[in-house]
Amino acid sequence: MGKNLFIHENVNKEALKKKAFNYRWAEIEDGVIPLTAADPDFPVAPEIKNALINYINDGYFSYSPHTGLEDFKVAIANSLNSRKNEFVSSELVLPIDSAARGMFLIANTVLEEGDEVIVFDPVDYLFRESTLNAKGVPVLFPAKLDNNGYIDLSELKNYITKKTRMICLCNPHNPLGAVYSKENLELILDLANEHDLWIMNDEIWADIVYSDSEFLSILSLGVERNKKTLSVFGFSKSFGIAGLRAGCIYAHEQEIFNKILENSNMITTAGGITSLSQIAGIACLNESYYWVEEFIKHLEKNRDYAVERLNKMNKITCHLPSATYLVFPNISETGMTSEVFVERLKEEAKLAVVPGTAKFFGPGAEGHIRICYATSFEILKEGLDRMEDWVNKNIDK
Ligand SMILES: Cc1ncc(COP(=O)(O)O)c(C=O)c1O
Repeated sequence: MGKNLFIHENVNKEALKKKAFNYRWAEIEDGVIPLTAADPDFPVAPEIKNALINYINDGYFSYSPHTGLEDFKVAIANSLNSRKNEFVSSELVLPIDSAARGMFLIANTVLEEGDEVIVFDPVDYLFRESTLNAKGVPVLFPAKLDNNGYIDLSELKNYITKKTRMICLCNPHNPLGAVYSKENLELILDLANEHDLWIMNDEIWADIVYSDSEFLSILSLGVERNKKTLSVFGFSKSFGIAGLRAGCIYAHEQEIFNKILENSNMITTAGGITSLSQIAGIACLNESYYWVEEFIKHLEKNRDYAVERLNKMNKITCHLPSATYLVFPNISETGMTSEVFVERLKEEAKLAVVPGTAKFFGPGAEGHIRICYATSFEILKEGLDRMEDWVNKNIDK
């Protein structure tokens, strides 16, 4: 089982051209390769597809339980506890329609107008957007990697003021591809406890960690110190079901859980996650981790190949990510802004990647581009060939 799942022949471009949106195949001009949004080019594990087909077969799509299917909540807690040592109770798990929704719900539940939130810069735009949506004020903390490949948190305490209410933790980190050391997680917890701050802990990338690194959840450091940690997990990155919009929030205290539930509007049925998404989610967690493990082996080869090739290109440097399927090369020496670089790469080399602009990651991303390599080796190679040719023609050594 699990052999040859990630070969080029399994990338169904015809289907992707119809179904993969968000800067990907269905949105780009024919002939352009999109190594853009973090969404795999491979079909899901057959177990997910079969679970959906079985559910669909009898033709009933009745209301599901207001707070989510019990089997789903149990599967989530079991998986977080057995795989990541997180001490999660299924009663404090809320299935929701995406990690993005979870972040918005958390921000809207704990923030009041004008509250400051520490948002790393760069990081995925959803941290900033969820803060702004709740009328909070994002305070950007410059996230730079230290010599060990961890984000240097030595200055973090200086960004905390009397108005700070929450710290956002993206673990593993998109776009830097970094995991966190125990010392760094301890530091974040200590600061949060000392200043009575919430932590928005986004673990959507927690499964995509390479053999030379290790994922450590802040929750594994103990329930007592994590009372104000509110976590999200999603199924888009590990299992490739972004279009099903599935995710969950998990808390450690009943009171805040109740507030989140109330804000979710799930009891009134105005909010919630579809039954189909939950059925898929159960199949992900209970049956498809073998697929994720094969996927990581494939990704690790793609990662090593991409980083080696990028570092050979004129004026480009690229660090090796410990996690995620994203590389974040530094293109600042080319003299182009990341926006110009990306626009020209798309027009002249027919390769689409994500620019390191404030819109996507914060102002600290400038001078970088982000490349997603959750595709076949052949597509990645073709993309990098195009980039290298273009770099050779346009950028001196
Ligand atoms: C760090 C992070 N959080 C959340 C999301 C959104 O996930 P979802 O599709 O579950 O909303 C992403 C997607 O790229 C992400 O990278």
